[in-house]
Amino acid sequence: MAAKVAIITGASRGLGEVVARFLAGQGYALVLTARHAEPLQKVALALSSFNVPVQTVVGDVTDAAHRTAAIDAANALGGLSVLVNNASDLGVSPLLPLADFPLDALERVFKINVVAPIALTQAALPALKANGGLVINLSSDAAKGGYPTWGGYGLTKAALDLASLTLANELSDAGVSVVSVDPGDMRTVMHQDAFPGDDISDRPLPDVTVPFWAWLFGQDRAAVSGGRYAAQAQNWEAVNEAV
Ligand SMILES: NC(=O)c1ccc[n+]([C@@H]2O[C@H](COP(=O)([O-])OP(=O)(O)OC[C@H]3O[C@@H](n4cnc5c(N)ncnc54)[C@H](OP(=O)(O)O)[C@@H]3O)[C@@H](O)[C@H]2O)c1
Repeated sequence: MAAKVAIITGASRGLGEVVARFLAGQGYALVLTARHAEPLQKVALALSSFNVPVQTVVGDVTDAAHRTAAIDAANALGGLSVLVNNASDLGVSPLLPLADFPLDALERVFKINVVAPIALTQAALPALKANGGLVINLSSDAAKGGYPTWGGYGLTKAALDLASLTLANELSDAGVSVVSVDPGDMRTVMHQDAFPGDDISDRPLPDVTVPFWAWLFGQDRAAVSGGRYAAQAQNWEAVNEAV
């Protein structure tokens, strides 16, 4: 039987916390990661009522040793069948035009948003192949918008979208599925950091995506692989657009 174990990066708040709660409710054992221990521990504690094992692994997704620790924790729980690459960074706050974007910040945001999800997927592959695994990469409408000042972050999400589709094509014979998910605007720390000082109370909380996760986890993984889904679209079959 395939292991029912998931790694969720950036699970200490926002969307990652919501996905963690959803998967705990589906009976998944969880490995939760983030850089700051205390909020991550709080999330793990709040999930105790689900009676599933929850391990926290504190660290930065750009650190290879941290990534290995997360995968080791999943294997200790029995394997790995779901990898959610959710941790992400804007690069700079407030956002800046690409023409003025500091190049060290651009390199760093590529490491967090593109290189780390690919590296985690590479390192997790033996376990994912053994368990008919699913990789979920969190994208954004900024990947396609060309919105002024969203270029640094948007570039990384466009690259991640192409990584998702390429990996989906490369790994289908090995029984590993890969999807890209644009969660839509949500009232989170990252969203506030993108609009410092603005009132973002009109944006929905990340729980708005729960119906989408329920749909996704009800699908045949091979059938959804290679898709790019907008979690707030409500009609996911129709909007499954290959990148
Ligand atoms: N919010 C939106 O409107 C929106 C829209 C489109 C797409 N998205 C995407 O949705 C995903 C979740 O976003 P969110 O709004 O929920 O973000 P968030 O509330 O800011 O949460 C980000 C999470 O990632 C962790 N994290 C950040 N950098 C990290 C790093 N280098 N290594 C390890 N963990 C790191 C944070 O914890 P620590 O700080 O403790 O590390 C936190 O747990 C992201 O991929 C984002 O790009 C969000």
